[in-house]
Amino acid sequence: MARILVFDSGVGGLSILRALQSCEELQQQRQQWIFCSDNAFFPYGTRKEDELRTRVCDVLKAAQDQYHPDIIVLACNTASTIALDAARAALRVPVVGVVPAIKPAAEISQSHCIGLLATPATINRAYTQKLIDDFAADCKIIRIGSSEMVWMAEQQLRSGMIDNTELHRILAPLRDAIAHDQLDTVVLACTHFPLLSQQLHEQLPEVKYWVDSGKAIAQRVAWCLSRQQEAPVAHTPLPHHLALFTRLDSQARELTRALQYFQLQDMRQLDLPLTEL
Ligand code: DGL
Repeated sequence: MARILVFDSGVGGLSILRALQSCEELQQQRQQWIFCSDNAFFPYGTRKEDELRTRVCDVLKAAQDQYHPDIIVLACNTASTIALDAARAALRVPVVGVVPAIKPAAEISQSHCIGLLATPATINRAYTQKLIDDFAADCKIIRIGSSEMVWMAEQQLRSGMIDNTELHRILAPLRDAIAHDQLDTVVLACTHFPLLSQQLHEQLPEVKYWVDSGKAIAQRVAWCLSRQQEAPVAHTPLPHHLALFTRLDSQARELTRALQYFQLQDMRQLDLPLTEL
């Protein structure tokens, strides 16, 4: 049994947790799931790079020291594209990052016109540009950086309702590219966005390929754990799968039902020694 910690600023981590919980290799054993949301610092997509790097390392270190996971999934493109190396250097356990799935999108697109949906931060990262230069240099990339969609995904998990008119407005550049450049592929480069899949599919039925990182990340985690089994870490089993929040407030509590769907029954506050915002 492995203890797997999935970290994000908010509910985006749940789209990655869903992929992990559906992964056949990981289903072969009972896993202990810890979802950890840095909701006190949400949203990450509008934070400065330096403050975000420090924050992510501080929160992950506190989670590691208090809950002793075997592996950590940095289930946030905005954080991974800036803090993955720093997190790996600061932590004892392996860290699997989630970065924009530009390479598989470029491989699958027939029209070589790809939409990239991410946070404003991820859209502008040098890391993202390098992925485009290395793997999609022959593609036209239509970039949309949207924090509004991040908020929508948060709302979707709490109430099941979002503002479809606003979503329609945000997606306008993709509709243009479908009409003029036969855009056929969209990368969901923010872990919040697969939570809006149904609305996205309804609004852009012409898109053939929706690409996110979930499945590849789950396989990577299974592979990392299979290599670790030589030296299993002895821990006292947790009574329940956990959901940790850096601020366990009423907005976090609104997620109780959604979290139960992921078997996360025990909601706790993560103590941060150094924090103050
Ligand atoms: N879920 C995060 C990502 O994958 C970002 C959300 C935020 O802006 O906090 O980029």
